[in-house]
Amino acid sequence: MNDTPPIASKWNARYAYAKRDQALPEPASVLVTGEAYLPDNGRALDVACGRGANAFYLARKGLSVHAWDISQIAVDSMLEYQRTHLQLTNVIPQVRDVVEHPPEPDAFDVIVVSRFLDRPLCAKLSASLKSGGVLFYQTFTAGLSNRDYLLRPNELPELFADLESCLSYESPLDERGFSEAYFVGRKL
Ligand SMILES: C[S@@+](CC[C@H](N)C(=O)[O-])C[C@H]1O[C@@H](n2cnc3c(N)ncnc32)[C@H](O)[C@@H]1O
Repeated sequence: MNDTPPIASKWNARYAYAKRDQALPEPASVLVTGEAYLPDNGRALDVACGRGANAFYLARKGLSVHAWDISQIAVDSMLEYQRTHLQLTNVIPQVRDVVEHPPEPDAFDVIVVSRFLDRPLCAKLSASLKSGGVLFYQTFTAGLSNRDYLLRPNELPELFADLESCLSYESPLDERGFSEAYFVGRKL
């Protein structure tokens, strides 16, 4: 019997298709643009981290990073990347369903989410920030066939109304029909 949840199987198949030696994707624009809001150290969480581009970016900035994804293959590819970049010991990749097992309250100084949306999880992400902690969120507003995964206009500031808004903008449609919203918020 296969106990792998269907969503994990879907993503495992996608990541298995990617070539092993494929370069790591760029970190999310929201992190690069909002870099000034990053603390110099502390605990960070990359939610639904995929191959970990955001986690490794945060680690290089001096944070201790937990990186969670439901896909075993994504996590294996992070472990492989760490084996060839031995200085990146401050990243702990882990297979974890973040919907079933959200982060604990008051646990992280930084949380980053890119290209993943589960609306009921958002309040738990806010709760998981320590006081003064910063959330970096970026995901699609257009371009995906499943509209459930698309943000509505101004939805990120509404989902995180309990955070102080540091940065919020929405990109125009690109030439392939995609657009994204970006939000950086601080817990007071
Ligand atoms: C579009 S990818 C984004 C990956 C990465 N954040 C990035 O920006 O490159 C969405 C990711 O969400 C993960 N995912 C989907 N459902 C999940 C869940 N319930 N818990 C943890 N990860 C999940 C998938 O395995 C996949 O890696």
